[in-house]
Amino acid sequence: MRKIFAFLLAYFPVSLFSQDIVIKDGWKFKTGDEPQWSYANFNDSGWAQIEVGKPWELQGYPGYDGFAWYRLHVVIPSTIKEKSFLKEKIRFDLGKIDDGDDVFLNGSMLGRNAGRGGDIKKGPYDIPRSYTIPLNDRRIKWDADNVIAVRVYDHGGDGGMYEGNYGISVTDVTDYISIITNQPFEFGPSRKITKKIGLQSTTDQYDFTGKLGIAIVDPVSGTTVFKQTIGADFAKNRPFEYTFSANLPETKSWQVVYHFVEDRSGKDITVSEGIPYILTPPIGKEPRINGPKVYGARQGAPFLFRIAATGEKPLSYEAVGLPQGLQLDKKTGIISGSINAKGNTVAKLTVKNKSGVASRKLTIICGDNICLTPALGWNSWNCWGLSVNDEKVRTSARAMFEKLADHGWSYINIDDGWEKNRNQQGEILANEKFPDMKSLCDYVHSLGLKIGIYSSPGTLTCGGFTGSYQHEKQDVQTYAQWGIDYLKYDWCSYAQVAPEHPSVDDLKKPYLTMRDALKETNRDIVFSLCQYGMGEVWNWGPEVGGNSWRTTGDITDSWKSLSGIGFSQYKSAPKTLPGHFNDPDMLVVGKVGWGPSLHNTRLTPDEQYTHISLWSLLSAPLLIGCDMNQLDSFTLNLLENDEVLAIDQDPQAKPAKKIYDKNKIQVWTKELEDGAIAMGIFNMDDLANKQQLSLKELNLAGSVKLRDVWRQKNIGAFTNLSVQLPPHGVWLLKAVSSSLSQKTSK
Ligand code: GAL
Repeated sequence: MRKIFAFLLAYFPVSLFSQDIVIKDGWKFKTGDEPQWSYANFNDSGWAQIEVGKPWELQGYPGYDGFAWYRLHVVIPSTIKEKSFLKEKIRFDLGKIDDGDDVFLNGSMLGRNAGRGGDIKKGPYDIPRSYTIPLNDRRIKWDADNVIAVRVYDHGGDGGMYEGNYGISVTDVTDYISIITNQPFEFGPSRKITKKIGLQSTTDQYDFTGKLGIAIVDPVSGTTVFKQTIGADFAKNRPFEYTFSANLPETKSWQVVYHFVEDRSGKDITVSEGIPYILTPPIGKEPRINGPKVYGARQGAPFLFRIAATGEKPLSYEAVGLPQGLQLDKKTGIISGSINAKGNTVAKLTVKNKSGVASRKLTIICGDNICLTPALGWNSWNCWGLSVNDEKVRTSARAMFEKLADHGWSYINIDDGWEKNRNQQGEILANEKFPDMKSLCDYVHSLGLKIGIYSSPGTLTCGGFTGSYQHEKQDVQTYAQWGIDYLKYDWCSYAQVAPEHPSVDDLKKPYLTMRDALKETNRDIVFSLCQYGMGEVWNWGPEVGGNSWRTTGDITDSWKSLSGIGFSQYKSAPKTLPGHFNDPDMLVVGKVGWGPSLHNTRLTPDEQYTHISLWSLLSAPLLIGCDMNQLDSFTLNLLENDEVLAIDQDPQAKPAKKIYDKNKIQVWTKELEDGAIAMGIFNMDDLANKQQLSLKELNLAGSVKLRDVWRQKNIGAFTNLSVQLPPHGVWLLKAVSSSLSQKTSK
């Protein structure tokens, strides 16, 4: 049994997706739009090869928006019908498509995914395409060449068949059954976990019986520490529910595997999930000052900085040596006012409570540069998508204030979906979901937090709302009147304004216009560029005034997306500078959803540790993408580890380097201000990875003192490391007393 589970774990880390034929390879591609490209007998031999599961932007079509077609020739063997138990339907899984699609099988329409009013140009980019037809449908040519033709329209950003599962399968008993695992784990004393799971059927044609196996496995050693098999009996309106409990031997990565075998057909279904485990130690009673150690502001601009400090409340705050023009509210820790002369000031911050005193220096640099350390905040997109509204933003601000602001988190950023149209004077108006932007900004500021907004240099944003094209100055004035502190500026429909093959100067142009508009206001507005990395933006982001710039397309909550984005940052990482950061996109931890309904991130707990560790090493802006009102204890543990955040916020913002890449282990390091080296050892493998690493190989000489950063614990001095990592896991360390040469691995 153990072996079977280990095998399943290795191959189906999240869920089993049964496909008789995998159709990943052999796709042909052409930009444009011709009706005959759907025909079975159309000669596509001159078309380019393309990979599915990757946007076309990354495959030689940078910045391409508009129509394009994919074609695939595939033989569908009749044996797949024969081996199925219920001989009913055939399914074509074509992954997610950005943005809309029409799909043809041998020249006849199989299905389409379009947006409002059947408009292919507004298709739902985030929904897996799955088209099902009866086995006796005349469009299928059994045991012969079939042509699947996919017509795609992309209106901006990444395009094409960019992610997902690609296969043809005969639907079977198991397609009607789901193992429901969405109830949260509950945690009790002595590492007790309890969880309710279920089995559900989506058909009223059959009742099901079978056996459900539950096993808890150590993903590194393969040892099973808990096993139970129970009989299950369910139908459409009669789901099966079961609650299991187990005591885990240690606080570390564990996986639960659920395996259901259906009685009549003998077909089975497997789902596995990681059990969240908390590494961040509980917050102490004594005061501790967190957040940035260096802060940039412009002369005369309204200044707002809340001293971030943890410790038992009430806390009292002091600041000695603040620049002229600034005052501290000793009860709230909010420093406000405006600085009337340029220059650097080192202020001494002190925070007291009945358990003790903490002091720290804060360097305030009044000059032309702001956002000297990466922004720490929240953005509405990865949870609410276009359904964001005033109430959701206020709730998020409140939750940030109550749960995370003491760790240095401060920005509350509204993404796309707030805009309406322009009034007669051309001023941008917020839509009915945001009845009073000024009062919303005031509310966020009253908590000592800052607020951000979103627009596009084009006429329309990516969500189809009004953009800033030819209204840049006016929009910035409006933002400044409202009290906005951060602007995400997203290329989107500017593609229609720019030449078809934009040069680097063309790419810079809209950002220079907005930079100049921002310079004219009296507010410090962080400028966040979003154009998906086109023209290697990291080489010129600072020149166009960018405090950060997205380096890739949008992130989603999958390992493929996370690792594809995160581990490709070695290209841009050398360009990291204080005040100018690569932005590998927002965080996908907690409850995410890109719209009104949310789900738990599909990343495993280990992948989430990897996410936060890598983003911190990269000095990336950390923008939480989940519902702030539903922060569970695991997600909070990811976001409130002050030693991890200090790596991200290190004032020197030295570039992260990939110094080792062998046997599916990558090691990334970053030199810190205090002379120590932060080091992330990442397991790229879908399986556990056990290796001995000599610290010499990592360019660390002699015996090196190491600190486990997530656990906030010194672990001793080493010359060799025994690395034992779960699938996609990380060990984040801080090395002291070392000499690290500057070698970088490609
Ligand atoms: C995308 C952008 C996302 C989000 C979205 C809004 O282009 O990359 O982060 O802002 O537009 O429509």
